[in-house]
Amino acid sequence: MSGPSLRKKDAHSSIHEAALNEAIELRTLFQKCLEDGDKVKALQVIEVTIEHWESRTLKHAEAEEEGLYKDIVEAYPDRLTTVIQLTRDHDLMRRIVDNLKNLLQSDEPNQRMITLLDSLVIIDQIHNDDEMNKLLVEGEK
Ligand SMILES: [Fe+2]
Ligand SMILES: [Fe+2]
Repeated sequence: MSGPSLRKKDAHSSIHEAALNEAIELRTLFQKCLEDGDKVKALQVIEVTIEHWESRTLKHAEAEEEGLYKDIVEAYPDRLTTVIQLTRDHDLMRRIVDNLKNLLQSDEPNQRMITLLDSLVIIDQIHNDDEMNKLLVEGEK
């Protein structure tokens, strides 16, 4: 998981893009359910969306922290600050996903969940850019 494919910019970037596109589609679908007043479907969609963030982006983050990030710091100690910043992004995403799960337990599907989903997407977009531009450098194996 944390092996060569995450070290390769193109392959790594494709993983980001696939997960993010799905997340954006799910967010749009969730909003439509809210607008339609279809609470049952909205509930199903938000559950799938949370599961999506956990099983894709947060799992990917975990693999990076256990493998890629450690390897990079070992090979390029001057990238430690970048790794710390990227790890903080992961933590923010984990906390927002936890927030969503808590909201789901105590509340019906609502607009606040859209705000949280949008926050996840924005943080992930910025995070992915930094991973590509500050962490992985073209030409390095
Ligand atoms: Fe990451
Ligand atoms: Fe990544």
